[in-house]
Amino acid sequence: MRWLKDSTTLRKDSDERFINHREHRGGTKTRRKKSALSVTSVSSVVNPDYKMHSITKVTTHLSHNEALIFERSQPGRAGFSLPSLDVDEIPLDDIVPQQFQREDDLAEMPEVTEVDVIRHFTRISAWNYSIDQGMYPLGSCTMKYNSRLNEKVARIAGFANLHPLASEAEAQGALQVIHELQQHLAEITGLPGISLQPAAGAHGEMTGIMIIRAFIDTRDGKGASAKRRTMLIPDSAHGTNPASAHLSGFTVRTIRSTTEGLTDLDHLRELCSHGDVAGLMLTNPNTLGLFERNIQEICRIVHDAGGLVYMDGANMNALVGVARPGDMGVDVIHLNLHKTFSTPHGGGGPGSGPCCCTKELEPFLPVPRVVVRTRSGSDGVEHATGTKAGDSAAFKLDFDYPQSIGRVKAFLGNYGMMLRALAYILTHGYDGLCEATEAAVLNSRYIAHGLVSDYEKPFDAPPMHEVVFTDKRQARKGVHTLDIAKRLIDYGFHPMTIYFPLIVSGAMLIEPTESVGRQELDQFIEAMRSIAREAIEDPELVLNAPHTTRIGRLDEAAAARKPVLRWRPAQAC
Ligand SMILES: Cc1ncc(COP(=O)(O)O)c(C=O)c1O
Repeated sequence: MRWLKDSTTLRKDSDERFINHREHRGGTKTRRKKSALSVTSVSSVVNPDYKMHSITKVTTHLSHNEALIFERSQPGRAGFSLPSLDVDEIPLDDIVPQQFQREDDLAEMPEVTEVDVIRHFTRISAWNYSIDQGMYPLGSCTMKYNSRLNEKVARIAGFANLHPLASEAEAQGALQVIHELQQHLAEITGLPGISLQPAAGAHGEMTGIMIIRAFIDTRDGKGASAKRRTMLIPDSAHGTNPASAHLSGFTVRTIRSTTEGLTDLDHLRELCSHGDVAGLMLTNPNTLGLFERNIQEICRIVHDAGGLVYMDGANMNALVGVARPGDMGVDVIHLNLHKTFSTPHGGGGPGSGPCCCTKELEPFLPVPRVVVRTRSGSDGVEHATGTKAGDSAAFKLDFDYPQSIGRVKAFLGNYGMMLRALAYILTHGYDGLCEATEAAVLNSRYIAHGLVSDYEKPFDAPPMHEVVFTDKRQARKGVHTLDIAKRLIDYGFHPMTIYFPLIVSGAMLIEPTESVGRQELDQFIEAMRSIAREAIEDPELVLNAPHTTRIGRLDEAAAARKPVLRWRPAQAC
């Protein structure tokens, strides 16, 4: 709580400093516009028709025409200079067997200096937009700024360098971290069983669905269970949900959404009436950013039909500390540590998708499990041998769960993500987690309010952490979602998620997250409103965007289907 409060104060101060700084520089809009245009005029890559009038967040900036590192290569250049040898030279053949020696003398590797390397990578890094530069309004895919402290914790040498095959006795501190994180996540979800093994959201989904299957096999017996192979999934779901269900041997049946954007209860009842339903996979808030307010009734219907409820917890950023899926009737959930709990999502980096479940499902969780070592006391009760690292092997790996679905990941999962998540939870504290959730929802509602007069908002209900708009009004002028997203780049923002969820035509899904201050929210709203005006007054400007990037509108199909990823010297092409 304190931490979050302090950061809010800090943000406010720096916002004020920023405003003062602009005034100090005499930065009126007209002056800023002039200097920006003069920079534009010397750049050969920027379209001279590019209009600056309502863009406040960015101006065009130095953007190097950087060649590939291979093209910078000059024969004889090197990044080192060694003193002459002061010992006898040993022939290479004496120390490296012939078959392990390269014959090509590293041909075609770039020959560059240290300065070349540093400048090259620094220059191209500046072409990228990053979370450290500003808002990433990607819906259904929390991309939020997270404290550097969590990164620092993940790099503590004792954790980062611990060998995955280290003995239990040597890994007590690491096991304690896992155990503590498990307890916090169990508390946050209201579901006591937990495995941190899954390596991503989709992997957590599959683990959860395999647990449901194993549970039903045990409860009903293999014969009866084989007749219960239907998994219900709403039409708004993320594509990984049906994929996980299918891979786990289920047939997917789709539930319609109502015009309000919620699960259609009548359709759910009808689908549940055939006696073959193993479960429901539901995202809450759903991918339209709406809280499934009938969640308890939904769980009741599925349970009465003999099924279990799986919740896709990718949108937990809207619930942490405020509402617990276990209290709503959910049986099993996955979390995305790489969205909600600090590790940045995106870029294909390692992730972590812990799976949490009810006591009833706990025996089926993957093994091994990290548990507190106990011994029988003289009173006949099991006592922990100690809960602090250093107390003789207080934590242990327990493989003794005969009903377990088995191991789903090598070792214990992606450990760095667990460290970040624990640091995130502890630095926020209970109050801080609630406040972050409330700020995430408030920010999304602020954007919803700011854009509703310019963009079509297909659902009336107040959004949770993300809000969906469509291009319906702009499409009358031939301007579509893709064009709006591209034009947003000119305004200095990463585009929002587009054309998802699939059930909303021309969807623009916007998730600001709690890590954006009011000034940037206002700039984003202003940018979007300005684009809406441009779509009416000057549609070509939007249709041909982006104008300020090094490369204009790409042929995205060709870029995806025929990627050129490998450099060859000119003569070899
Ligand atoms: C709603 C939802 N469910 C599941 C996933 C899958 O998570 P992951 O990308 O970690 O596999 C995502 C991914 O972004 C998502 O948005």
